[in-house]
Amino acid sequence: MRLKDCHNFQDFRTLAKKRLPSPIFNYIDGGADDETTYRRNTAAFESCDLVPSVLTGVKDVDLSVTVMGQKLALPIYCSPTALQRLFHHDGERAVANAAEKYGTMFGVSSLGTVSMEEIAKQTTTPQVYQFYFHKDRELNRAMMQRAKDSGIQVMMLTVDSITGGNRERDLRTGFAIPFKLNLKGMLQFILKPMWGINYVTHEKFRLPQLEEHVDMGLWCHLNWRLLYQHARSINELGRRGRDGEILGRTVLLERHYESRRRS
Ligand SMILES: Cc1cc2nc3c(=O)[nH]c(=O)nc-3n(C[C@H](O)[C@H](O)[C@H](O)COP(=O)(O)O)c2cc1C
Repeated sequence: MRLKDCHNFQDFRTLAKKRLPSPIFNYIDGGADDETTYRRNTAAFESCDLVPSVLTGVKDVDLSVTVMGQKLALPIYCSPTALQRLFHHDGERAVANAAEKYGTMFGVSSLGTVSMEEIAKQTTTPQVYQFYFHKDRELNRAMMQRAKDSGIQVMMLTVDSITGGNRERDLRTGFAIPFKLNLKGMLQFILKPMWGINYVTHEKFRLPQLEEHVDMGLWCHLNWRLLYQHARSINELGRRGRDGEILGRTVLLERHYESRRRS
């Protein structure tokens, strides 16, 4: 199976499963605990209806929306995702190029593997910076200043990172930083040698948004779950971090019906 054979999300998922060592695939694909929220979240989106707009002319179809002050050509954007160069050696560079091609916004994760400055130089696409509020106000100021200096217009504040997720797939494969792979996990890397070849033949893996502020020696000895305590965001990260939590879409719908009841 190749990229040209991918026509929908499930095709991409199948291809990723074929190409990636399973600890990496499961890190991307997995949720927390029994993955109940994961399934409910997927079902919630499947039950989403689109209201057709017909007999309105198709000469100038305009899907554009304004999100957080940014005019986007599509009503979707690329939300921040950590560690993209683990998934493909081009990582954020490729995703930012795709965002630019389709006129939408690119989310820079604090756990991104390409610097926000490089993305800003490479593309003109608007960026949103996903930010954690730290106890150290100076650190907050320095990180915000850095984002402003690189031209980022939108900040997304992560508020749901109080505890890390019990991600059972990662426990089974030993996905952690540094890798704590068990024999089964190691075998998966041997079975997919291209991933390892790409990893060693491309530039060193980095976390440029953080390395200025965090002692990376120490960082590398942190357990992945500890590290991930800092990686939860408001944008439905729930399925990855906590199982059984009410879905963002449900909350939005309830608020919508509540305000309709009132009016
Ligand atoms: C592999 C992976 C890593 C992610 N990393 C981050 C992150 O570093 N920061 C963040 O705010 N959201 C992160 N997210 C959450 C996404 O931005 C997005 O909100 C979420 O995946 C959407 O929900 P869904 O995957 O259930 O569709 C990550 C998601 C995935 C799948």
